Amino acid sequence: MKLLILPASLLYLAFTTASPLAKRDYPAVGACSGQCSGRLHDPSVVYRADTKTYYRFATNDGINTATAPRLSGPWTFQGPAMPDGSSIDLPGNHDLWAPDVFHLDNTYYLYYSVSQMGSMNSDIGVATSPTMDPGSWTDHGSIGIPKDSRYNKIDANLYFPSGASAPVLNFGSFWQNIFQVPMNNPPLTISSPTATHLAQNTTTRPAGLVSGSMEGAYQFQWNGYTYLFFSSGNCCNEPANATNPDQSLAPSGEEYHIMVCRSSSPSGGFVDQQGRDCLTANGGTMVLESHGDVYAPGGQGVMYDPNLGAPVVYYHYVRPSVSYAYDEFFFGWNRLSFAGGWPVVV
Ligand SMILES: *[C@@H]1O[C@H](CO)[C@@H](O)[C@H](O)[C@H]1NC(C)=O
Ligand SMILES: *[C@@H]1O[C@H](CO)[C@@H](O)[C@H](O)[C@H]1NC(C)=O
Repeated sequence: MKLLILPASLLYLAFTTASPLAKRDYPAVGACSGQCSGRLHDPSVVYRADTKTYYRFATNDGINTATAPRLSGPWTFQGPAMPDGSSIDLPGNHDLWAPDVFHLDNTYYLYYSVSQMGSMNSDIGVATSPTMDPGSWTDHGSIGIPKDSRYNKIDANLYFPSGASAPVLNFGSFWQNIFQVPMNNPPLTISSPTATHLAQNTTTRPAGLVSGSMEGAYQFQWNGYTYLFFSSGNCCNEPANATNPDQSLAPSGEEYHIMVCRSSSPSGGFVDQQGRDCLTANGGTMVLESHGDVYAPGGQGVMYDPNLGAPVVYYHYVRPSVSYAYDEFFFGWNRLSFAGGWPVVV
């Protein structure tokens, strides 16, 4: 998650040069009751089987936690997972970003990012808990990814390919986009400093926009393939107003949209539905984009929902009829069908 401010003068450019995207008809956002809006960027949702409870974690503060009996709610805020922030000694260590929670061998692992808007002075850390309840997390600090000018160390996602002896961790935002490092088991630290480049977008963007707009990688296994979901575009722009006349929304189509690539390997060879390589040919197939009163869906994760008996994509989005304000984002989800080998919201 990264905020990019656009000058208002770009709006003119947007409306004169943007080509309309052929949009498919998207189904309505899944039902949500209780705390379904607020400061809930980049959600991570985990189902706790023994208490039949869904836990939802979100960017900012000490990682705000909410729980619900179903994905559709009612959601109740429970407080910050890590009220004291992270032991990582970098600016932003009390405003943690982009949580990703994973259950492994009776322990929950919470990966988080320490960064600041537009900064590459970032790091990824991990905390563990037996329950996921606020206050139960033990911070272990940095997982040890080396600094490199090709990537930004934010937006972690732990992935354990079936049959593997240890998981991998996907990360990266802008610059050269999405990378992966191998993890130890238990996954508190990397097992090698060599990062594998998984995907990037070198398409020229409208003037004023930072290129390589991929972030928020999330891998999900289905029918023998590893699907690499990611957010492409700008997450959080707000229109100009009297207090901030210089800001503007991203040109149409340049705001967050959820895309996917797939491979038979978790660590390379990702292509899109047209067969375009996602590392060398700007591949990526659209999963969900702005439609109706849903704007800039992204920060997504994918899970198998035991109540629905189906895979689900969940995400944050903006409702233009309500507000574009950063603190008024909405939690959304939709069922996914992989029937044709590629995920489609249904
Ligand atoms: C103007 O925009 C800023 C930043 O996007 C926002 O925080 C503020 O609430 C907005 N003000 C009004 C009056 O809408
Ligand atoms: C690549 O960037 C272009 C221009 O910003 C955007 O329209 C497209 O959706 C992006 N594709 C991917 C795979 O990120």
